Amino acid sequence: MSLLDRVAIVGSRGQLGVDLMAAFADLLPLAFDRPAFDLTDTATMSAAISAARPTLVINTAAFHEVERCEAEPAPAFAVNALGVDALAGLCASVGAVLMHVSTDYVFDGASRVPYPESAPLSPLSAYGVSKAAGELLIARHGSRFFIVRTCGLYGVAGSRVKGTTFAETMLRKAASGEILHVVGDQTVAPSYTRDVARAMRAIAASGRFGIYHVTNAGSCTWHGFAAEILRRAGVDARLEEIGSAAFASRARRPAYSVLAHEGLQAIGYAMPSWQEGLHDYLLARGLLKPSAPA
Ligand SMILES: NC(=O)c1ccc[n+]([C@@H]2O[C@H](COP(=O)([O-])OP(=O)(O)OC[C@H]3O[C@@H](n4cnc5c(N)ncnc54)[C@H](OP(=O)(O)O)[C@@H]3O)[C@@H](O)[C@H]2O)c1
Repeated sequence: MSLLDRVAIVGSRGQLGVDLMAAFADLLPLAFDRPAFDLTDTATMSAAISAARPTLVINTAAFHEVERCEAEPAPAFAVNALGVDALAGLCASVGAVLMHVSTDYVFDGASRVPYPESAPLSPLSAYGVSKAAGELLIARHGSRFFIVRTCGLYGVAGSRVKGTTFAETMLRKAASGEILHVVGDQTVAPSYTRDVARAMRAIAASGRFGIYHVTNAGSCTWHGFAAEILRRAGVDARLEEIGSAAFASRARRPAYSVLAHEGLQAIGYAMPSWQEGLHDYLLARGLLKPSAPA
């Protein structure tokens, strides 16, 4: 039996989940969604997994509202740590491989060079700690797993939690004449979910288990990302750079979240740049200025 015989996607309605359903469409993936499949209810997961006997379970589901996690760590740990632990155990019990989506927030951002997959975990926030715990708990069920850490996701479906993306928020505010205040002291690799989903398909097909960093290539600050969104959409707006200290937030965020792609390099897969990802996203959303650079 091959890894790709029966693929199931947890959180298929999320922004990454929708693009994963598309990236695996030829394999007719199963959608494991709430309420029939809930990471906080092991019985639902057990029933679905025993009935479907998947060979690969891709988990995008998370409690990932960073500020809420800080205020309410219990539900964050219930989903991101204990729910993932139970899911990994159930996968192991039927011989399925788990591919789990994690985050750049497992690092503290003190580095000034991209984090390799092997860098020690050093989360700053309750969200980051809960995701790091999820990663560590997966490993106790064996070595046949993939962990895919990504960063700054945006996709055509939009985040289920926020109902939108950073780009749409910038363009909406610009259209209403608001001054855009955007942080310039957090360096990230904004990542288009379609590009991330395609890379995850390549990772699964490689059969090479382990931890992978999957982001669009290159990096920018959120302010730089906003400037590029406005430029490519052909929108004039007042964009002002601010420091993250200007935001009243409980959670500490990494100042530098760039992830090295050593795992992808090992399987011979190269990610498009963040500018290419943005271009493709704006095109797919019908937001690209017709004469914008590719
Ligand atoms: N967004 C980012 O910038 C970012 C950055 C780095 C890493 N990540 C990671 O990437 C993954 C995907 O993020 P996303 O932006 O695609 O999220 P999203 O759009 O909010 O989608 C999350 C999906 O998970 C499902 N879900 C939530 N709690 C669940 C539970 N208890 N049981 C079952 N399903 C549950 C949601 O179900 P419903 O359809 O029922 O709402 C939704 O379909 C997450 O693991 C996140 O930690 C995200």
